[in-house]
Amino acid sequence: MVQFKTALAASALLASTALAVTPVVNDGLDFVNAISGARFQMIGVAYQPGGAAGFNPGSGIDPLSDAEVCLRDAILMQRAGINTVRIYNLDPALDHTQCMSIFNAAGIYLVLDVNSPLPNESINRAAPWTSYNADYMRRVFQIIEAFKNFNNTLGFFSANEVINEESDPSVPRYIRAVTRDIKDYIAAHSSRHIPVGYSAADVRPLLVDTFNYLSCNLANSTNSGMDFFGLNSYSWCGDASFEEAGYNILLEDLSNTSIPIFFSEYGCNQVQPRTFTEVGSIYSAPMTNIFSGGLVYEYSEEPNNYGLVTINGDNSIELKQDYLNLVDQYGRIDLAALTAANSTATQREPPACAASMIRSNLTNSFDVPARLPEVQDMINNGVNGTYPTGFAQVTNTNEIATVTNPDGSTLQGLELRVLAGDQSNLPGENTSGTTGTAGPGTSPSPTSSGSSSTGTNAASSSKVNTGAVVLAALTLGFWAQL
Ligand SMILES: *[C@@H]1O[C@H](CO)[C@@H](O)[C@H](O)[C@H]1NC(C)=O
Ligand SMILES: *[C@@H]1O[C@H](CO)[C@@H](O)[C@H](O)[C@H]1NC(C)=O
Ligand SMILES: *[C@@H]1O[C@H](CO)[C@@H](O)[C@H](O)[C@H]1NC(C)=O
Ligand SMILES: *[C@@H]1O[C@H](CO)[C@@H](O)[C@H](O)[C@H]1NC(C)=O
Ligand SMILES: *[C@@H]1O[C@H](CO)[C@@H](O)[C@H](O)[C@H]1NC(C)=O
Ligand SMILES: *[C@@H]1O[C@H](CO)[C@@H](O)[C@H](O)[C@H]1NC(C)=O
Ligand SMILES: *[C@@H]1O[C@H](CO)[C@@H](O)[C@H](O)[C@H]1NC(C)=O
Ligand SMILES: *[C@@H]1O[C@H](CO)[C@@H](O)[C@H](O)[C@H]1NC(C)=O
Repeated sequence: MVQFKTALAASALLASTALAVTPVVNDGLDFVNAISGARFQMIGVAYQPGGAAGFNPGSGIDPLSDAEVCLRDAILMQRAGINTVRIYNLDPALDHTQCMSIFNAAGIYLVLDVNSPLPNESINRAAPWTSYNADYMRRVFQIIEAFKNFNNTLGFFSANEVINEESDPSVPRYIRAVTRDIKDYIAAHSSRHIPVGYSAADVRPLLVDTFNYLSCNLANSTNSGMDFFGLNSYSWCGDASFEEAGYNILLEDLSNTSIPIFFSEYGCNQVQPRTFTEVGSIYSAPMTNIFSGGLVYEYSEEPNNYGLVTINGDNSIELKQDYLNLVDQYGRIDLAALTAANSTATQREPPACAASMIRSNLTNSFDVPARLPEVQDMINNGVNGTYPTGFAQVTNTNEIATVTNPDGSTLQGLELRVLAGDQSNLPGENTSGTTGTAGPGTSPSPTSSGSSSTGTNAASSSKVNTGAVVLAALTLGFWAQL
């Protein structure tokens, strides 16, 4: 901790103004840069240091509240080539300005879940009508308020994995209702449209129907349709192939899409260390005809063993072999092909919703629940709270944590490269840091595989959180001097 603070003081005030990344919008089945029209594909990672159990509102900490932690991690994401980060659990009462500014400076977008695991903060899959209420929607709108003024907010997930074999048949209607309310709130209170979509569990018997239901155009409720569709899929394990992973089936099933689709989580960990050979498939044709990239689950090592890096209690970082393997795979992506916009793809329009689209027992109704009067009032008048108005200067760009390779060698010269306006991050560019002594890591340390993608326990997160609280105190003191 003391070392951390000293390094911070020494590298402070290498100030530079962060220019914004350009907003990304959905256009047909592509995401595109709102200004240049270039196609945008997600080269991303899920980010929840401390795991799902690390979210503790009232603690003053969430994954975007601590500037030192964000700087430490944004540097390692930037050098890897990441351009998008997904975050699950956020507290709208906290100020995320510094972290959003750091990610923006690094050329990294964020796709954010509006929900949390706490009561009244997500749709209840057993009884959704009990969860569609004013308290829940106020929280959701507060998240919109907390992030709408940052151009690197790429999108919001209105719901995550609510539909499965156990979900009530009315769940899809409520997902559309919440999506409608979010889109209407954004239309009333944001200076730009921010895409809103769903993140689906890979329940293959329900997948196509879920996709069709949520993406079709409902004439009497057009805003309840998704702007994009995320799929959490762990079907490519080890050195699998396009066919073994069932990517060919996914392409067939989703071939008619008129909205962007991406892997909102991927990265099976049954074979360790992970080699990420699916990257070559995800970022080339035919996958790129339909998919807009994906997000690797996940940045930090948690009890379920999906990490790219291990965060130690003293805030130092050990890169896992997985991180090096992912960087290696990213380095082989044909970047020019990724950004080529395609007018056939952008001209697609959603088909009209029809009962014939639904072949399973997913649901039998397109009757989207009526909006509650209290929710209409919030859409008309906004929600209470104090929210950021835009980016701040990024004043500190040097890595302040010790970062080691799997072989124990330390990385030197790590820094945040502040990108010029309208640039987003890409693999192979802005790769700071060189290895001090030994060569690249060669000693992978296999660990056992986990079973749940987001399930974690609090055992190892308490350590991280303690560190983060102390860091937050330092941060407050530091920023107050500026
Ligand atoms: C956000 O993007 C829009 C469109 O490119 C631009 O006009 C605006 O200045 C940007 N905002 C910031 C804070 O950079
Ligand atoms: C959830 O919200 C409802 C309605 O706003 C409220 O009556 C209920 O007490 C809340 N439940 C919890 C657990 O906070
Ligand atoms: C719907 O079908 C799935 C199998 O596809 C089954 O597991 C589930 O129990 C069924 N749900 C209802 C409510 O009947
Ligand atoms: C895609 O659309 C075509 C033309 O409407 C239709 O024949 C085909 O069945 C659709 N495919 C899927 C997987 O829905
Ligand atoms: C354009 O996109 C469509 C739909 O994804 C795809 O079928 C087609 O091959 C693409 N064309 C080119 C030239 O990439
Ligand atoms: C909207 O259209 C759907 C499908 O046609 C229908 O089931 C539903 O009752 C309509 N809702 C309203 C409020 O009219
Ligand atoms: C916003 O209003 C709600 C309901 O009136 C209240 O429970 C909540 O504490 C308020 N939040 C803030 C941040 O003022
Ligand atoms: C980041 O990489 C791009 C492309 O190589 C380069 O043009 C830009 O100058 C780099 N930015 C910094 C701050 O090094």
